[in-house]
Amino acid sequence: MELLIKETAKLIKQSKFTIAFTGAGISVESGVPPFRGEHGLWNKYDPKVLDLGYFNENGAECWQYIREIFYDFFADAKPNKAHEVLAEMEKHTLLNAVITQNIDNLHFEAGSRTVYEFHGNSKKLKCRKCGRIYEAAEIDMSTIPPLCIDDGEILKPDFIFFGEGIPQEAYDNSFEAAEAAEVCLIIGSTGEVTPASFVPRTAKQQGATIIEINPEETLFTRQITDIHLKGKASDVLEKLAAHLF
Ligand code: APR
Repeated sequence: MELLIKETAKLIKQSKFTIAFTGAGISVESGVPPFRGEHGLWNKYDPKVLDLGYFNENGAECWQYIREIFYDFFADAKPNKAHEVLAEMEKHTLLNAVITQNIDNLHFEAGSRTVYEFHGNSKKLKCRKCGRIYEAAEIDMSTIPPLCIDDGEILKPDFIFFGEGIPQEAYDNSFEAAEAAEVCLIIGSTGEVTPASFVPRTAKQQGATIIEINPEETLFTRQITDIHLKGKASDVLEKLAAHLF
């Protein structure tokens, strides 16, 4: 492992453009549950509560679960060492962009600035009738569903639901970064969700070296990964940091 870490640090230092593609696994050590796997959210909840069509018809019911999953459980989650190392890498110009599938805002809270949120962000709510945006922190969640104060419409979290398109700007920026990448870190993602999983695949096609950080094997591991650093994101990134700064 130590040798692989050293090799990775060398590749990152030599690279002119490095990106990190992150998934739920990077936030597990912050107490945010992943979607899949043994303790995954989809073992406990029915994904239909985040299906746009179902939400449109059953907003009040969906909000019972949405509040519990996204605003009770992990509202107070804090960035962990893995988020912090990525932010530090950006400051040392060793990382050009973070492309995240996560909606928990933790990369920004850790200090990363170039973050493309492929699936949106849970810290904002939107009225789909008038477009007004609310900070989730300002909303009194004791009565749900939360309603727009202007027109009474049920607010929707500003992350994407099943059946919704990827925010255009994040999509364009992510693929542009993937095409430019010489090194792509994949951290804590099963790679089961498209089009997000096409981001590291695009990087690979354009010749990037793929470094995967995950305690488990994933869909990426056999197909595109060049170096698998098997372990928890915070442990591995802490070790990597010792060779980078
Ligand atoms: N460090 C690194 N990786 C970890 C850790 C850890 N401490 N703990 C778990 N993992 C890994 C798991 O082994 C798994 O491969 O994180 C991955 C989590 O996978 P998913 O829950 O499927 O998360 P992700 O790939 O981000 O899901 C993609 O699915 O439902 C949608 O929109 C949702 O953005 C999400 C998308």
